[in-house]
Amino acid sequence: MEFVTYEQDGFIGVITINRPKALNALNTKVLKLLDKVLNEVDLKTTRVLILTGSGSKSFVAGADISEMSILTKSEGELFGKVGNDVFRKLETLPIPVIAAVNGFALGGGCELSLSCDIRICSENALFGQPEVGLGITPGFGGTQRLARTVGIGKAKEMIYTASNIKAEEAYRIGLVNKICSSEELINEAKKLALKISRNAPIAVKASKRAINEGISLNMDEAIVIEEKLFGSCFETEDQKNGMKAFLEKTKVEKFFNR
Ligand code: CAA
Repeated sequence: MEFVTYEQDGFIGVITINRPKALNALNTKVLKLLDKVLNEVDLKTTRVLILTGSGSKSFVAGADISEMSILTKSEGELFGKVGNDVFRKLETLPIPVIAAVNGFALGGGCELSLSCDIRICSENALFGQPEVGLGITPGFGGTQRLARTVGIGKAKEMIYTASNIKAEEAYRIGLVNKICSSEELINEAKKLALKISRNAPIAVKASKRAINEGISLNMDEAIVIEEKLFGSCFETEDQKNGMKAFLEKTKVEKFFNR
């Protein structure tokens, strides 16, 4: 069985973590396969990715506890690096990634969703960082990205108490953008992806880069990044067509990614 699958539908790619027997927990093999799939996404034709877990019970129930249970200090650090490298690749992929979170998003699962640009979830979703209850810290970016997404106080509360939160609370604190039924989740993710894919791809990619690269800088440095990326959109065919259509009071039919 393939632990990570990939399907392409027009401009939209869907990556599925497919290890249902372990609730899609991330072992080294799954992480390596995810890395391989990310390397193989055709960035010329794909405009948006959706990342989900197989089945309706679990997005990803965390890093693989049985694999981690026997690691030494240096092996633990290396395992963290393997996960972090893949998650960083996902986060910095030029195109937007939507996490469609069905069920458990615990530990490495919550962290995987945090490496995506946007999260939508099913009503039965459960988010949490249970690591300190296992004697470890979050290790795939949770100490960094959770605080940047929901604020430092809420992130510290979730991590220190190892308490899980349901979909409604995740929505309330801004961890997810939308909640929908389990049956509708993938369609909702596709609708959102389609909406994004209809906009000028060069501008969408530049927006992602500006937000990601600027967020950890001070405003003076961050705004320079925006200026450069803003400038880079000019003279593109899509910019010319988009503005021409506005001035002629029509709608641009499609953008070409050039
Ligand atoms: N690692 C390895 N196996 C896991 C797993 C994980 N994170 N989560 C679930 N599984 C396995 C279970 O061991 C079980 O396998 P067997 O059938 O072979 O016993 C199978 O998946 C089904 O799980 P349960 O029987 O436990 O299902 P449940 O419905 O009773 O409970 C659950 C579901 C609450 C998610 C529970 O499985 C659970 O608590 N899982 C662990 C969640 C967790 O602590 N995640 C964080 C891991 S640490 C981490 O992620 C570190 C990091 O930041 C890098």
